[in-house]
Amino acid sequence: MSFRIIGTGRAHPEFILNNEMLSEIVDTDNEWIVTRTGINTRYVSTHETITELSVKAAQRALEKAGLTGKDLDLILCSTMKGDYACPSLACLVQKDIGADCPAVDLNAACSGFLYALDQADAYVGSGKAETVLVIGAEMMTRYLDWTDRGTCVLFGDGAGAVILRKGDGLKSIKITAKGDDQLLVIGNTFCPSPYGKQPELDPHFRMKGGEVFKFAVTSVLRDVKEVMKAAGVKVEDVKMLIPHQANLRVFQAAKEKLGFRDDQLAMGIDHYGNTSSASIPLMLDELMEEGKLEEGDIIVLTAFGGGLTTGACVIKL
Ligand code: COA
Repeated sequence: MSFRIIGTGRAHPEFILNNEMLSEIVDTDNEWIVTRTGINTRYVSTHETITELSVKAAQRALEKAGLTGKDLDLILCSTMKGDYACPSLACLVQKDIGADCPAVDLNAACSGFLYALDQADAYVGSGKAETVLVIGAEMMTRYLDWTDRGTCVLFGDGAGAVILRKGDGLKSIKITAKGDDQLLVIGNTFCPSPYGKQPELDPHFRMKGGEVFKFAVTSVLRDVKEVMKAAGVKVEDVKMLIPHQANLRVFQAAKEKLGFRDDQLAMGIDHYGNTSSASIPLMLDELMEEGKLEEGDIIVLTAFGGGLTTGACVIKL
């Protein structure tokens, strides 16, 4: 298929929020959070903007690829909400990295990075672009109800980026959507109008955790099997399964059912929490930097999230 990954980068806020600190504001404790989710700490923005994090991640990815913004043909930014509704986050990144290519945001919630890779594949495969910057950037902590212990312990902020160039690294990819406004929801807020009543939606992240858990395990198993079959790849060929970092238990269950070994499962949820569509590119850059992944390795990416959406792919680095 169309592209290979030639650079990765990441950025996160400075402030580290640990479970003990959370137990001072809601009725929770370290043991509950660690055993139910796998999370120890997460990065939370105290002053950084999502634009700043995205620009840093993009600059690092460009540096590693040995390119500048001027070399890009397209910028795709996966985010549920940038700093502004307009201009898009992708346009703000384009300005700050000195690029002059088209730039657009897309929102597929936590599966957004996979959706962006799929769109990049369409652009590069059709010849409309040769070099694409894909960013996953989210500030989930902006949408938390800090009095709801069921959700406020789960999320963190961050941005991850990859530079894609025409090549044959992508072996298979799949994305899905099934419209639902009950399981995972964040409402928009609107300005009052003299001509009518605006919808009054809850701006906080709300989730039916148990149902999402079941949806997650089922869809991850289905998608991973499908993309591995389409790529002609077996479990023993895969260096690492890099899932959306949503919950350690979801992926331990999926890993066992799929037959992967412990060392094939890449989890960074202990120090990132759930960073939505930033979670896969954050992990990818960390693993590359630590030398745990190198050129030629086969990786499987899988994500699920609000929408409901899912995505998975097989890539040879
Ligand atoms: N600390 C202590 N207790 C908590 C708590 C917290 N932070 N959050 C919830 N609880 C309590 C509940 O109130 C409940 O108490 P009760 O039995 O007295 O009513 C109990 O723990 C069990 O709650 P439940 O929601 O059933 O827990 P769970 O085992 O399903 O774990 C999640 C909750 C959110 C960790 C889990 O459902 C999950 O991970 N779901 C998937 C979420 C996901 O992947 N989201 C990503 C979307 S992209």
